[in-house]
Amino acid sequence: MADHQLPAIAYGGDYNPEQWPEEVWADDHRAFGLARIDTLTVGVFAWAHLQTAEDTYDFTTLDAIVARIVAEGRRIVLATATGALPPWLAKAHPEVTRTDFEGRRHRYGQRHNACPSSPVFQRLSAALAGRIAQRYAGTPGLIAWHVGNEYGGACYCDNCAAAFRVWLRERYGSLDRLNQAWNATFWSHTFTDWDEIEPPSALTEHWRGPNHTAFQGITLDYLRFTSDAMLRNFTDEKAAIREHDPHTPVTTNFMGMYRPIDYHRWAEHLDLASWDNYPPNEQSQARMAFTHDLMRGLKDGAPFWVMEQTPTTTASRDVNPVKRPGVLRLWSWQSVAHGADAVLYFQMRQSVGACEKYHGALLDHTGRTDTRAFTEAATLGAELERLGDAVLGARTPARVALLFDWDSWWAAEISDGPNRHVRYPDVVLGYHRALWDANVGLDAVPVTADLTGYDVVLAPLLHMIKGDLTQRLAAVVARGGTVITSFLSGRVDSDDNAFLGDDPAGFTSLFGVRVAETDAQPTDVANPVTLTDPDGGGSLTADGRLVMEVLVPEGADVIGTYGADFYVGEPAVTRYRPGTAAGGGAGRSGEAWYVGTQLAADGVAWVVQAALARYGLLGPHPDVADLEVCVRERDGVRHTFVLWHGDAPVEVPAHVAGTDVLTGRVITVGETLRLAPKDVLVIRER
Ligand code: GLA
Ligand code: ZN
Repeated sequence: MADHQLPAIAYGGDYNPEQWPEEVWADDHRAFGLARIDTLTVGVFAWAHLQTAEDTYDFTTLDAIVARIVAEGRRIVLATATGALPPWLAKAHPEVTRTDFEGRRHRYGQRHNACPSSPVFQRLSAALAGRIAQRYAGTPGLIAWHVGNEYGGACYCDNCAAAFRVWLRERYGSLDRLNQAWNATFWSHTFTDWDEIEPPSALTEHWRGPNHTAFQGITLDYLRFTSDAMLRNFTDEKAAIREHDPHTPVTTNFMGMYRPIDYHRWAEHLDLASWDNYPPNEQSQARMAFTHDLMRGLKDGAPFWVMEQTPTTTASRDVNPVKRPGVLRLWSWQSVAHGADAVLYFQMRQSVGACEKYHGALLDHTGRTDTRAFTEAATLGAELERLGDAVLGARTPARVALLFDWDSWWAAEISDGPNRHVRYPDVVLGYHRALWDANVGLDAVPVTADLTGYDVVLAPLLHMIKGDLTQRLAAVVARGGTVITSFLSGRVDSDDNAFLGDDPAGFTSLFGVRVAETDAQPTDVANPVTLTDPDGGGSLTADGRLVMEVLVPEGADVIGTYGADFYVGEPAVTRYRPGTAAGGGAGRSGEAWYVGTQLAADGVAWVVQAALARYGLLGPHPDVADLEVCVRERDGVRHTFVLWHGDAPVEVPAHVAGTDVLTGRVITVGETLRLAPKDVLVIRER
């Protein structure tokens, strides 16, 4: 597959014409033309339509839909139609429905809820994917296969229990090893037969919900198993597609920072990463930036797709505001700036009924093409057309890596102690925010990523240490780079058992510090941490919360101290400079920072900026809040995206010279850029 095979950023989205009479289709395509919609995702929820009984397939409608799209010259993302089960299937085979955490076998209803371990589901979903692939492989304009939809959740049925035991046998080989991994002698859990093992649920190991488990190891393994079980559903369908179509990229739409599925474990099985961007609110610009980076990191920096975003409003929240004027354009360009090669919506025409009848669409219930949503989408379509293929396949150069790890997420949040209020995404986003505010380009990468290209590696709340990670972090420091970690890092091994001894996970050696005590406090208690730069830089007092580790330097310099409680004056933040790297890092010593508490944003920013400044990595406008700057680069051509998230006009000096692709305006360094609220510049650099 060529790195960039499309003529332009793919623009369009989910299209469900089977839900409409055929007369409407002509109106649809006329509207698509006006909005420069060139890509349509079809068939995501068409299972009941395509297969009316176990041996009865009917492609009449899909044939017509596809033929029409081909005739109109648009591109197709073809779904395998397994996002929702048909009623006949659940009636004939109740095993395809899920059993929930409380042990209730569900009856037919909703979607995204097939039992991943059901042999019937596995067989029939793969069969349907194969049938569709057989029929439509080679269709002109078919640019991707869309398997399933938003995989997620969990099932606790007997089929899953059996599959879990198989998964455990493969992982551990023997019950001895399993008992050791789960620390089973605790509470008399030593298993003597694989069949004694139960899925961890409200009926077994859990008491107050999915995070409250007696045996972290069992719950952690069930999370891993569930992610793998659904991955197998995906790969089964993909294999069925590949029997008929060896080349067209296969993907499924991820959900960004979605806890139940370890997207890093899935990534190698996808030909391209794609995700659905539904941020929680309009203040999510930094969070979206991180999530785009996380999705780009799945395929080693290769461009990803935004498979869905709403043109206007969602419907699933209690309150569903419309996107404000300019927001659709700004967020779409933000995704492109972070590496998206496709900008797609859910959906093209607003549902007439059921739970998404008020979910926004390109065409709303009036069908008009002069609504604000349509007009803004059409304006964006014209802009994307102007950009053409200029950034397709382009990478986003970064000298900073932010590690993200589902195992650490799970382990930290299912832990009993020290503090249930610790949320992994909050901690990671806290560090990310400091980078984002400083306009620093970054890669959000798995802990297995090659770290050799980065000056600064951030590893917040890296609770679980797997494989040779400590050595690879140490290598960053040894060559003159910087590593920053936080409280509750380096605590457990891949079984979620605590590291023993004075140098857990090698972190005492790496960070030159050890943790003497770990205190936890309620959310409303703050311990002021005074940060002072021993090199003569500024000083700042910032609140620490939730977890307060009392640190004992073993070579590190004390940078921050607690201001309250019995450990007042004791170290809270340290920085270790183990020595000047021989030859590497421009003769500069590497640094290993340890932040022993959940610092407030200003404290995190202080630490992160101190670390970045040594490498000249602070971005062009770190002083202008809500101004985002990103770069994509291909074949030596750089495009700089200037994204203004503010609600009032702003003026900033241009930091690069070039031409704004959207307006044709020539920009020189230092000239004043006047940005309207939600404005976007795409500067092709000279
Ligand atoms: C998800 C689904 C879509 C649709 C949208 C609505 O992302 O994939 O089918 O339900 O949400 O927001
Ligand atoms: Zn199940």
